[in-house]
Amino acid sequence: MTALRIGVCGNGTVGGGTIEMLQSRAALLEARAGCPVVLTRVGARRDRDDCPVQDVPVERDLLAVARADDVDVVVECIGGTTLARELTELALNNGKAVVTANKALIAEHGNELLALAEAKGVSLLFEAAVAGGIPILKALRDGMAGNHVSGVSGIINGTGNFILTEMESGKRAFDDVLAQAQELGYAEADPSFDIDGIDAAHKLTILASMAFAMPLDFASVHCEGIGTVTPEDIQFAGELGYRIKHLGIARSSEQGVELRVHPTLLPNDALLANVDGVLNAVRLEGDCAGPTVYSGAGAGRLPTASAVVADIIDIARAGGNVVSSLGVPVASLEPVTSLAMSEVRCPWYLRLKAQDKPGVMSRLASCLGAEGISIEALIQKPPVGNDETVSVVVLTNAAREGDLRRAMAAIGSMDEVSDAPHGIRVDSP
Ligand SMILES: NC(=O)c1ccc[n+]([C@@H]2O[C@H](COP(=O)([O-])OP(=O)(O)OC[C@H]3O[C@@H](n4cnc5c(N)ncnc54)[C@H](OP(=O)(O)O)[C@@H]3O)[C@@H](O)[C@H]2O)c1
Repeated sequence: MTALRIGVCGNGTVGGGTIEMLQSRAALLEARAGCPVVLTRVGARRDRDDCPVQDVPVERDLLAVARADDVDVVVECIGGTTLARELTELALNNGKAVVTANKALIAEHGNELLALAEAKGVSLLFEAAVAGGIPILKALRDGMAGNHVSGVSGIINGTGNFILTEMESGKRAFDDVLAQAQELGYAEADPSFDIDGIDAAHKLTILASMAFAMPLDFASVHCEGIGTVTPEDIQFAGELGYRIKHLGIARSSEQGVELRVHPTLLPNDALLANVDGVLNAVRLEGDCAGPTVYSGAGAGRLPTASAVVADIIDIARAGGNVVSSLGVPVASLEPVTSLAMSEVRCPWYLRLKAQDKPGVMSRLASCLGAEGISIEALIQKPPVGNDETVSVVVLTNAAREGDLRRAMAAIGSMDEVSDAPHGIRVDSP
């Protein structure tokens, strides 16, 4: 290959970082790629002082980049699933490789886009879509290629991890820390994708597809955000020897595949429990490699551009052969049964408020026992001031979620219980 010609669409955080890397380290990239990697076009609807573009034609119509004769690889850094999808399809149809950082696009339309790329005989890569600077898709595709992967779990949204970390270290409420995250630029003005878990669910969809060779199935991910976690929960979890993290968990068993994103208690000594701030971390469980953990910057201008540029180099090294982040033909992906949440088994943390009377704890234990659930630990706090109710925290042994929900309903209907139980799942890898 004489040179690999790149058109970058979107000149924001990721696009701007990619342009900077391509323009500032041409010699290094040529040495790694085996041919010059040349930025020939940029698609941007406006000039930005924070992301200057020099010596390259800038197209205001982004689709023109996907039609340009001097572009071999279109890098999609726009976000969203409308124009990004149109751009990606146009580029693939025009025989151009596509590199994208867009997790929503791949999680929601990846099956069709991968099939189109294969039909057209071109490459489609999306390392930057999951965990930013951590090369987790390449770890799954290449490093774990000889393993059956039975589980993937991870902190895959830096904003959520920052909020939970700050709530813990500063004993602060969720809304207060969210406002700070927005000021610092970690959370969008509309933070719902991050704090409601949708962003993590997109990434988990991609991880699960690669780990279990299943089609991308965003609709099957059970998704809960961090908005219900209170400073009290974080404190009580600490007293029990746990920290609360927002995890994406994908597990495969004979019963089916669990795909879930939710706040999770992790034992203090778990590696993932000690990943703080905006950092991300992913744990893979391979049958031969055993557990491996990957940690680093899950977002940001250059960490994410690093993953985009690695994909570009993958394409250059393939020398005209087709490469994909998936590593296998999309037709080889087999649908799997996804396990209903009522069938998922794990220990639970429950917090409730009950009257400080004799017999209440034994009735509470009976509600759990009636569903075959035993108690691992129980904390009852002393009453505060004139309050006649006390906070009670229960850690259960592993329970089927359907049974646990019935027990929670029974506890919630006890006369002595004023605040119905609030539950958080526990993960002990
Ligand atoms: N930020 C991260 O750390 C990160 C990490 C991993 C993955 N990603 C993914 O990377 C993608 C880009 O994210 P980002 O953070 O770089 O976003 P961003 O900073 O908002 O940049 C997006 C760019 O696309 C342009 N754009 C958006 N819609 C457009 C439209 N309809 N027509 C023309 N231009 C349009 C924007 O133009 P203007 O300049 O006019 O706004 C901007 O330059 C997303 O899919 C995101 O999920 C981001």
